[in-house]
Amino acid sequence: MKRLNPRRETAKRSTAIDQEYTEHLEELLNFSEILNSTLDSSLVRERAMQATCRLLRSEGATMYLVDKEKNELFFEAIVGQVGTSALKEIRLAIDESSLAGSVALHRKSLMVQNVASEKRHFQQADNKSKLRTRNMVAVPMLSKGILVGVLQAINREGNQEFRELDLRLLETLAHQVAIAIDNAKLYQDLKNSFYETIAALASAIDMKDRYTGGHTKRVAYFSEMIARYMGCTKEEVEEVKLGAILHDIGKIGVEDLVLKKNAPLEKAEWEIMKEHPEHGYKILAHVKGLKKITDGMRFHHERPDGFGYPLGLKGEEIPLIARIISVADTFDAMTSNRPYRKGLDYDTAFEEIVRQRGTQFDEKVVDAFIEAFKMERMGKKRSLRAK
Ligand SMILES: [Fe+2]
Repeated sequence: MKRLNPRRETAKRSTAIDQEYTEHLEELLNFSEILNSTLDSSLVRERAMQATCRLLRSEGATMYLVDKEKNELFFEAIVGQVGTSALKEIRLAIDESSLAGSVALHRKSLMVQNVASEKRHFQQADNKSKLRTRNMVAVPMLSKGILVGVLQAINREGNQEFRELDLRLLETLAHQVAIAIDNAKLYQDLKNSFYETIAALASAIDMKDRYTGGHTKRVAYFSEMIARYMGCTKEEVEEVKLGAILHDIGKIGVEDLVLKKNAPLEKAEWEIMKEHPEHGYKILAHVKGLKKITDGMRFHHERPDGFGYPLGLKGEEIPLIARIISVADTFDAMTSNRPYRKGLDYDTAFEEIVRQRGTQFDEKVVDAFIEAFKMERMGKKRSLRAK
């Protein structure tokens, strides 16, 4: 029988521990890098689940978030073999009736090696997933002392038991995730209130110019569709939408006699009306971070052939955001009724936009408009008119 060398065995064991430790450290560092580079909470949740499985070598992971109003937990993210959309319907009370509820109630981690013997095991989750929960680690996610949710690792691979180290690792991870989710929420809240303020500002114009009621909303919708069909990124689409919402804000500076006139404008009145892109620009030019959006507002009456205003820019001198808003704005203006004329029907207005491709409107923008018009039934969006 071969005799073991105790010194060599100890060295082997410590090398394995070192390697595992290094892997954990790398995983945690990678994960914190992801957290520091995004404010997208769905990405944070997805990566947190993946990191949980890798770190704890678990077959699956789940995350519950807190519904403050109902004082309940709801499934927010699932990964691994646990993944099934049926789980997303599950809601748990924050009390002793389930393991996750209990973790949330006491804000204390739990490690259960034999879930089948646990009265608090929430059988419904197993019924709805393809996985039988054998063992689990569940930890509270706390940010600034406030409970954000519960993070769980389910079934350690290879029929193994979870260790104390796994619990500590998951607690470290949960702490980072909670802070990241909290930050993403704060950012989203801030963004929402920014949008609401912008929309409130724009509605001032719709109220003043009653004949174009709902114009802003429709132009924003058409612009968004065109931007999407042009393959713009999510951020670019958002900018286009904001620019569209604000495109006519400068009309606040146009005197009522001109803005509310019930007849076609005289030449001198047109000159006054044509000042509205510059008025809008002056209102918002000093707001940092709105450069592209103010470009959309300032140049939405420019034309690729150079016959537009205020500057008579040509072709690609006109920022893309403005070229998009121009098509959306004109399409809606053509199909809107005025006291002195009836709006065109959608198909006629559509053909008019196509006819002006390359002269009044940018070619690529018109191509995207044609596609969006056909695919999204933009012309059929009657419901937008009622708003
Ligand atoms: Fe305008």
